Amino acid sequence: MPESGGPGASRPHQPNGSGQVPPVEPGDSDFVVVANRLPIDIEVQPDGTTAWKRSPGGLVTALEPLLRKRRGAWVGWPGSLDAPAEPIDVEDLRLHPVPLSPTDIAEYYEGFSNATLWPLYHDVIVKPIYHREWWNRYVDVNRRFAEAASRAAAPGATVWVQDYQLQLVPKMLRTLRPDVTIGFFLHIPFPPVELFMQLPWRTEIVEGLLGADLVGFHLAGGAQNFLFLARKLVGAPTSRGSVGVRSRFGEVRLPDRTVRVGAFPISIDSGELDRKARERGIRRRAKEIRAELGHPRKVLLGVDRLDYTKGIDVRLRAFNELLAEGRAKRDDTVLVQLATPSRERVESYQILRDDIERQVGHINGEYSEVGHPVVHYLHRPVPRDELIAFFVASDVMLVTPLRDGMNLVAKEYVACRSDLGGALVLSEFTGAAAELGQAYLVNPHDIECVKDVIEAAINQTEDEGRRRMRALRRQVLAHDVDRWARSFLDALTDAVT
Ligand code: ADP
Ligand code: G6P
Repeated sequence: MPESGGPGASRPHQPNGSGQVPPVEPGDSDFVVVANRLPIDIEVQPDGTTAWKRSPGGLVTALEPLLRKRRGAWVGWPGSLDAPAEPIDVEDLRLHPVPLSPTDIAEYYEGFSNATLWPLYHDVIVKPIYHREWWNRYVDVNRRFAEAASRAAAPGATVWVQDYQLQLVPKMLRTLRPDVTIGFFLHIPFPPVELFMQLPWRTEIVEGLLGADLVGFHLAGGAQNFLFLARKLVGAPTSRGSVGVRSRFGEVRLPDRTVRVGAFPISIDSGELDRKARERGIRRRAKEIRAELGHPRKVLLGVDRLDYTKGIDVRLRAFNELLAEGRAKRDDTVLVQLATPSRERVESYQILRDDIERQVGHINGEYSEVGHPVVHYLHRPVPRDELIAFFVASDVMLVTPLRDGMNLVAKEYVACRSDLGGALVLSEFTGAAAELGQAYLVNPHDIECVKDVIEAAINQTEDEGRRRMRALRRQVLAHDVDRWARSFLDALTDAVT
């Protein structure tokens, strides 16, 4: 694929004659987040003006409000080819765009990040593809992110690197800027050792992460897997005791320093969502939504990026069979599926979309009446307030991933139900299940179990629903994203003092 010559295009990294990266001048931000994407996608319109839209996914949902409060800097890809390459200030954030060329996008983003690491880290639901050119590009782009972070960070700054796209950045940044404190957090599951060992570049990835002072995962299991791999692949002595949640950190002892390893389950701005969901306008819109759906007795809801990890097919299959068996009534039950388009040029995502749309068509063909579909499917992101109204309007929230690092949608639904209404059906294979034990938990691989649990959720008594929702809300409101960030950053500060 040819390189773009446009102003936003980047050139492959060129080391100087000695093979060393030239020194970079420090910047002026004391707190820097580095993530593959900026929190907004920046697009230049045909008339030359710039337009922004919120980036997809849970990472941005969690970190954006937090960084705004701290007036930090954010280093990331602006999401389009022609976006500006210079730092820009947007409200309380300083954004440092890292431009990606079409080849970078094909090989680093769609290739190594989303066709190698994403499936490998999600239990190989689809087969990971291993290509050396993709790996080389991943190394190259990670180096450019490390350099951009180095240019943004003030002397002695804290730099917080995010997620699987940037696992080499901690080591690269430490080489460039030994003065900064480096945290790393993985937003997706860290895989079982047996699966990670497939990766041809497994040692380089572990070494990359060990460049951080603190490496964080959602769950203690991920932290334990990482400690095992650091021993096995790098030969580093590690602590042996079990890692706790936000406590009892593990350690990897390197010759010159010690790396902390911990579990920090991420969350949402639950207080803000709780407040928004109580607003009169949102309540009114929720009622309207039910009316627009034809006043069904029960509204089932799914909200996801269109990703094969999310088990959208699982819930559609279960709903189809419940309708076929008369356990869900076609004239008084509807399913609304809101699906944000995602990674649309990656083949496994194209196959998934075709499959989901075929299933939706099949169910509607069998069970709908003219003007009354049983499944309402929107392939687009909906505005935030509209999404909150959907949460308030629905009776059963279906969160059925085959594997998910956390799943913020589950927490968002709970935060929006101050009325103690609704029921949460939640896959055991999400990080959220570890905290939300009062949800209707399901094994998404067991279709009969999924059907039974959805049926139970549809038919729960008001008392049972209120009891469960009260317990879920206690957990979600007490453990918000601020607490997550504080626990991570406190552990990071302790790690270096
Ligand atoms: P992931 O990070 O894998 O996409 P999460 O559930 O953790 O999954 O986070 C998804 C975020 O994207 C949530 O904040 C959710 O509200 C938002 N989201 C998902 N689908 C939609 C949609 N169709 N419209 C608007 N927002 C969406
Ligand atoms: C998940 C990942 C994020 C990613 C998001 C959206 O939340 O953990 O790193 O940004 O999905 O995916 P995308 O490929 O569109 O950035």
